[in-house]
Amino acid sequence: MEKERFNNLIKEKLGNINLIVVSNREPIAHEYIGKKIKAVKSIGGLTIALEPIMRNLHGTWIAYGGGSADKVVSDESGKIKLPEGEESYTLKRIFLTKNDLNEYYYGYANSVLWPLCHTVYVKPVFNSGQFLSYDEVNKKFADSIIEEIKVQKELHISSPASSEKHGFSAGEDAEGREQSGQGLNSGANGERGGNVLENVIWLQDYHLARCAKYLKEYDENIKISIFWHIPWPNPEIFSVCPEKMELLEGLLANDLIGFQIIYHCQNFLRACEWELEAQVNWADYSVTYKGHKTKVMSFPISVDANYLNHLAKSEDVDKIIDNIQKNDEIIKPSYEFLAVSVDRLDYTKGIIEKLMAIDRLLEKYPELQGKFVFVQFGVLSRVHIDAYKKFNDDISGLINNINWKYGTSDWYPIVRYFKQLDLEVYLAYYRLCNVMIVSPLHDGMNLVSKEYIMSDTDYNGMLILSRFAGASKEMYDALLVNPFDTECFAEKIYNGLFMSREEKERRISKMQNIIMENDIYDWAYNFLTALYLI
Ligand code: F6P
Repeated sequence: MEKERFNNLIKEKLGNINLIVVSNREPIAHEYIGKKIKAVKSIGGLTIALEPIMRNLHGTWIAYGGGSADKVVSDESGKIKLPEGEESYTLKRIFLTKNDLNEYYYGYANSVLWPLCHTVYVKPVFNSGQFLSYDEVNKKFADSIIEEIKVQKELHISSPASSEKHGFSAGEDAEGREQSGQGLNSGANGERGGNVLENVIWLQDYHLARCAKYLKEYDENIKISIFWHIPWPNPEIFSVCPEKMELLEGLLANDLIGFQIIYHCQNFLRACEWELEAQVNWADYSVTYKGHKTKVMSFPISVDANYLNHLAKSEDVDKIIDNIQKNDEIIKPSYEFLAVSVDRLDYTKGIIEKLMAIDRLLEKYPELQGKFVFVQFGVLSRVHIDAYKKFNDDISGLINNINWKYGTSDWYPIVRYFKQLDLEVYLAYYRLCNVMIVSPLHDGMNLVSKEYIMSDTDYNGMLILSRFAGASKEMYDALLVNPFDTECFAEKIYNGLFMSREEKERRISKMQNIIMENDIYDWAYNFLTALYLI
């Protein structure tokens, strides 16, 4: 969907909404570089996906302010207008203590929920103390949202004219039907419609499982939703979590819960049946618990397809490709065949399994030695967690072994580059490579795979994609692999390298059409209208 159409449809369907998006990660962090302050874009899928939505809907984004200069550049309530020069939305930063971060972010969110939900044989480290901090931080986020709702209400009362901008009057929908709930929201403290701007609370991800509960305690009429970006595990796995009841009860305070794919919705509904004996309606995917109904739906997240496609074909990217071909600063060994991966350095991303497959590829097809190079781009992540430290050491060890095994005086097969690059540089490598490998052991969606498809404008390459990434449900024309099956994985890389251009074009253009049909604007529109219809 074009962004102009998105804006019009949102206005027409939902009226003049005050969107409050809430996530742990902020879209832009302000960092001191020496004495200067630099605005640094966050790299995770969540922030990249939601940024264009916020720019278009001009809402408020509440997130943890983790940059070293975040406090200095924000006002006394933690607010700053972003992005610089455009100032289309407000970022409201929450400042957490070191203890909050250790217990809530590194602790419960990323040492319990992350491994539990990804089911990748990394044992969650359960710790009830960390859960208490997780809960407290969720309450801090809820307090900040409530404060924001009150501020917006004050602003609105002092300038009621803004209510005239609503696309439909309170009490009827875009088609003029009467609505019992009157718009998306009844407003804080029970006021309905009229001059009150429609607050839309959209929580993001596994850091905020308990937040809705505190918001409903403040006002049970506020409409609240959450999108869970990561997988939801099967009920057997989930049942080992000591805080499973608290997590489910927190989540069921939302009116709408979105997951990436239907399988995650089903896992969640089964957990509600198993653990809470809640009433699940399998016909309309809803759960009724303690008298409150929550709708559960899948919304596969996507990318800004048109933007990426145009950027990949831009003069800037052409120039970068030219420079790489003349003098590649990153890939030193020469190659005839190039394979590329871009991952946050995380044990769920299947990097070890991919290196093992490349080892097998070079062993099985020795004619590729001296001609094939694989570059692993990445950024370090969550480095204060032991499992991540060990993982980074394991990757380095394996890369060194493989390079030692096959390397010659002027060639080696694996290049690692673990610093963040500009998007244009990644797009240049996407256009240059013969295969792009995206092989997580388990992933909610994986937006890198969609980014790659939209940038393969010359149909030069082929996507090798894990069956265990949510994206494989839509990108079924990629070469799908089970990353645990080294033999088949190596074979699929080989097939990708030698696939004809016609076949690549046929498959890639089909996948491009699928992404165009459901880009990031469709995703946000589908979610927000589903919330509206509840
Ligand atoms: O959905 C998982 C997610 O929140 C994505 O946004 C992103 O890929 C990653 O986790 C970011 O993690 P962090 O915010 O811990 O760097």
